[in-house]
Amino acid sequence: ARTYIVTGSASGIGATTAALLRDRGERVIGIDLHGADVEADLSTPEGRVDAAAAATELAGGTIDAIIACAGISAPIPATISVNYFGVVELLQALLPALKKSDAPRAAVVSSMASLQTNSPEMVEAALAGDETTAREIAQKLADQGPRAGYLVYPSSKRALSRWVRRQSISADWAGNGIPLNAVAPGTVLTPMTADLLSTPEGAKMADDAVPMPLNYHQSPESIAYLLLWLTSVENTHLAGQVIYDDGGADATLRGDDI
Ligand code: NAI
Repeated sequence: ARTYIVTGSASGIGATTAALLRDRGERVIGIDLHGADVEADLSTPEGRVDAAAAATELAGGTIDAIIACAGISAPIPATISVNYFGVVELLQALLPALKKSDAPRAAVVSSMASLQTNSPEMVEAALAGDETTAREIAQKLADQGPRAGYLVYPSSKRALSRWVRRQSISADWAGNGIPLNAVAPGTVLTPMTADLLSTPEGAKMADDAVPMPLNYHQSPESIAYLLLWLTSVENTHLAGQVIYDDGGADATLRGDDI
């Protein structure tokens, strides 16, 4: 069996991914705030360090794959901390154990929302590793009201997708033979979207932002199966891709613009 680290394992896409892996006989070490093998808060630097140390110890020093699903969508500074720094700092902290695998792999969950209007300043601050500034920008946007506050989530995911593009070809990842990729879902039926989709107005907002001509809203399984393949031994050359697994939302919105 391969040893997988899955963040956000207590709910939604992470929980479904962990369950499918266990069904296949793989070993899963889940990380989440509560209800996981490793309970840690990925919104803080200390939480990330503690999570990486505990997961590495539970794994016995070698990790075969990391699947980072933990994320939040609220218009608050914690969103850039969890969605960007909680992924990249954790991946970097787990890299020594991942390098020991015969077939190391990593995949993260970005979002279709990464293509939406965002704050370039926040994206740049995140990519520069400046969490304090990124959080200050998020707070300023939130203070300006819901419209500006909404930019926080797409900014966190744009930064994450761009980090994956850059790092995937670096000495750390490609240089160590580790495929690193992102999946960008459309609207997935999980606790994250349940409130929004519970009213006709909310559903219309979601569908205007993320039109899904192929099969409409998607199950967490639709994302989990792709994450499983990206982190399997079968994936030897797919690297640095942001795969829009989104019912055709990207093709609808961007069309020829690629
Ligand atoms: P969810 O809310 O069902 O699960 C997210 C999990 O992350 C929860 O178990 C939560 O406790 C954990 N988490 C949140 N903050 C954390 C922290 N500080 N430390 C540790 N764990 C923390 O959400 P869902 O839908 O499964 O989302 C998974 C990923 O997919 C997220 O990154 C989300 O942004 C992304 N996504 C979701 C979409 C959707 O429509 N549901 C669409 C596109 C992307």
